[in-house]
Amino acid sequence: MERLQKVIANSGYTSRRKAEELIKSGKVKVNGEKITTLGTKVNNNDIIEINNEPLKINDNKVYYLLNKPKSVISSSSDELNRTTVVDLIDTSVRIYPIGRLDYDTTGLIILTNDGTLANILMHPSFKVEKKYIAKLDKHFEIEDLKKLEQGILIDKRKCIPKRVKIKKNDKNYSIIEITIEEGRNHIIKNVFSTLGYNVVKLHRKEYAFLTDESLKVGEYRVLTIKEVKKLYGYSRNKNN
Ligand code: URA
Repeated sequence: MERLQKVIANSGYTSRRKAEELIKSGKVKVNGEKITTLGTKVNNNDIIEINNEPLKINDNKVYYLLNKPKSVISSSSDELNRTTVVDLIDTSVRIYPIGRLDYDTTGLIILTNDGTLANILMHPSFKVEKKYIAKLDKHFEIEDLKKLEQGILIDKRKCIPKRVKIKKNDKNYSIIEITIEEGRNHIIKNVFSTLGYNVVKLHRKEYAFLTDESLKVGEYRVLTIKEVKKLYGYSRNKNN
């Protein structure tokens, strides 16, 4: 049994929020009966209609791995009409990004129409590793490495990196490779700004076991079935 709004959203018909609006405004019927209560549960045998048209369940799941360029927004639409990550993928399927990268961040992001996988990968308990390369505006002090390794308190919750490597430490800038398991917005920038550094460039090099090796910035590829299955594996092994 699944919530009605989730089934509608996962079918690819519209977003979860819009599905809720459709339900509340009485446009949705289940087995011929108008449903206006959010959270009503349905199963595979239930016949869902929207505006008196049967809902087609889109079982054709698609998965793309994009190496996001700068100046692109990580959502499916933008009020300011800026280019979105979805605009960069040549597909007629309604897809959305799993998680976010900032407008000025480059690197790996998955786009899909598979709500189940999105929920798995975004859930904090599933601990998906993400490796970032951060260019900082100054020399990186060794005592800050110790502080970083012990964890930095952001909004009352510690961000403890899995791994940190100083790749370059110049007089005027530094390049740090940092791997974290969490996905809070602006987390890398906030961690370094707490230590007194500005992140002047940020790139996500790895997402789980996926790397940017064969993808130039701006390029994308379809994930293989094997890769998708491996990503689903995160729901079975929370300690991945
Ligand atoms: N952390 C950030 O600060 N920005 C991103 O885009 C991703 C992680």
